[in-house]
Amino acid sequence: MNQPVSIRRIQRADFSQWKMLWDGYNAFYGRSGPTASPDDISNVTFARFFGTYEPVYALVATHGEQLVGVAHFLLHRSTIDLNPVCYLQDLSTAEQVRGCGAGRALIDEIYRAAKKCGCTKVYWQIHETNLTAIHLYDWVAQKSGFIVYRQPLLTEAWERNGSNIHSLRTGDSEFHWLSSSET
Ligand SMILES: CC(C)(COP(=O)(O)OP(=O)(O)OC[C@H]1O[C@@H](n2cnc3c(N)ncnc32)[C@H](O)[C@@H]1OP(=O)(O)O)[C@@H](O)C(=O)NCCC(=O)NCCS
Repeated sequence: MNQPVSIRRIQRADFSQWKMLWDGYNAFYGRSGPTASPDDISNVTFARFFGTYEPVYALVATHGEQLVGVAHFLLHRSTIDLNPVCYLQDLSTAEQVRGCGAGRALIDEIYRAAKKCGCTKVYWQIHETNLTAIHLYDWVAQKSGFIVYRQPLLTEAWERNGSNIHSLRTGDSEFHWLSSSET
């Protein structure tokens, strides 16, 4: 590559190129064809990157006019810190630039962005068989030693109360969820 890769915040005009990278990333995780992630989820996810009150962000790696990498991250609360914590949810680079530093540059820029937002930590997870990604991650962060447990849940109907606060009553408990501004 004679031109360096640059990192910047995503823009609305990036949608079609972002979608191609996003579909490729989803396919990498087996979400393609009959198990593809529905387009309305992708559309809402993309819209959330631009929502003022959404804690969901995206950076892109560019090579000239071409998008060659994406990274999505979220900021969330912590019970052991007053500052927010950053979760790096997705990282993907185009096959033709792999090994050229785009992945590392995206992670470095997330570190800078999260620090600016007051975060004290960035963390993420990786499947133990993804040795290519682990090779990169071993350079840029420390292994936490924690194992991730997960349990899929059947979703119940959230009631909308006229604003963008949704409520769910389940047993004795009531939960509230503030949704994004309408997209
Ligand atoms: C994991 C991934 C994001 C890495 O992105 P990348 O742009 O290749 O990252 P970098 O170029 O910064 O490479 C990081 C290191 O891995 C090495 N590397 C990455 N891909 C390589 C390849 N195909 N062959 C040889 N070395 C490779 C680089 O040489 C570099 O090593 P170095 O720091 O010792 O020089 C990319 O491979 C990818 O998108 N994979 C599919 C999706 C995925 O697994 N995402 C991560 C899990 S969520």
